[in-house]
Amino acid sequence: MDILTRSQSAKIRSSGTPQIVLKARNVVRRFGGVVALNNLDLDVVEGQILGLIGPNGSGKTTFFNVLTGIYAADEGAISFLEKEITNLPAPQVFRSGIARTFQRARVCLSLSVFDNIVLGDHPRLQQGLVFNLFRRSSFRREYEECVERVRELLEMFAPHLVAKMFEPVETFPMIDRRRIEVCRALFSSPRLLLLDEPSAGMTHEETRLLVDEIVALRTKRHKLSIIIVEHEMDLISRITDRCVVLNFGSKICEGTYDEIASDRNVQEAYLGVEA
Ligand SMILES: Nc1ncnc2c1ncn2[C@@H]1O[C@H](COP(=O)(O)OP(=O)(O)OP(=O)(O)O)[C@@H](O)[C@H]1O
Ligand SMILES: [Mg+2]
Repeated sequence: MDILTRSQSAKIRSSGTPQIVLKARNVVRRFGGVVALNNLDLDVVEGQILGLIGPNGSGKTTFFNVLTGIYAADEGAISFLEKEITNLPAPQVFRSGIARTFQRARVCLSLSVFDNIVLGDHPRLQQGLVFNLFRRSSFRREYEECVERVRELLEMFAPHLVAKMFEPVETFPMIDRRRIEVCRALFSSPRLLLLDEPSAGMTHEETRLLVDEIVALRTKRHKLSIIIVEHEMDLISRITDRCVVLNFGSKICEGTYDEIASDRNVQEAYLGVEA
């Protein structure tokens, strides 16, 4: 199928070719005898939301881990914004413009909303005792800029948290912790955002709200591409432009949600029997 949405196709006809921001080719990752990723090819188009789905253990999180430098690929190549990023260390991948959230919420409960979000860009912040002691005006300026950037992000994604910016995260419900995680990932102004099961641990109503917020996000950041891993098919059907389905580490189908949902191989992979 065509990997462009209709509006993107129209835009391209008038203004040139679409940009494929992420290109993964023949990516293989093994854990002992388990082939977690098996010759995976995957493209992400600028501004699109790609759903990465598949049964438990099919390799979705492994793909994020290989992409972000947590695990090395055994074979294959990945390029991002036309630069080779295969097996770069995690901080370098991050600096190239890829940020992520994790399958299990990873917020520091005793830290404030502000601290949790600013941690999302710590490699780029000025650090160190000497800097903080002797360049106090620069430090203060940087701090004030951070407060402003966090405020802007919260206003966009979780306005009710602006007033609670300096409160510890531990008293907040799961949906707010997820929102904070998303803001932390967005704090570094990434071009590609990886969301690993953002609905995990949330109620249906919370999931619905989060979906609406992600949809609103894309209208504010046109160049941001997103890969979302999710088991909630309702969520996937509502927000993705395209889906890639994995089973035992291999891509078994690719297309719009309607296309993959009606595919026989996909039905069999999910049901574990002949559809
Ligand atoms: N660090 C590891 N050591 C050994 N095996 C691993 C490791 N990480 C992943 N695997 C294996 O790789 C395969 C893919 O796992 P992965 O976590 O990527 O699946 P997933 O699609 O994210 O599943 P889920 O939907 O349950 O999160 C599984 O067989 C898993 O056991
Ligand atoms: Mg996973």
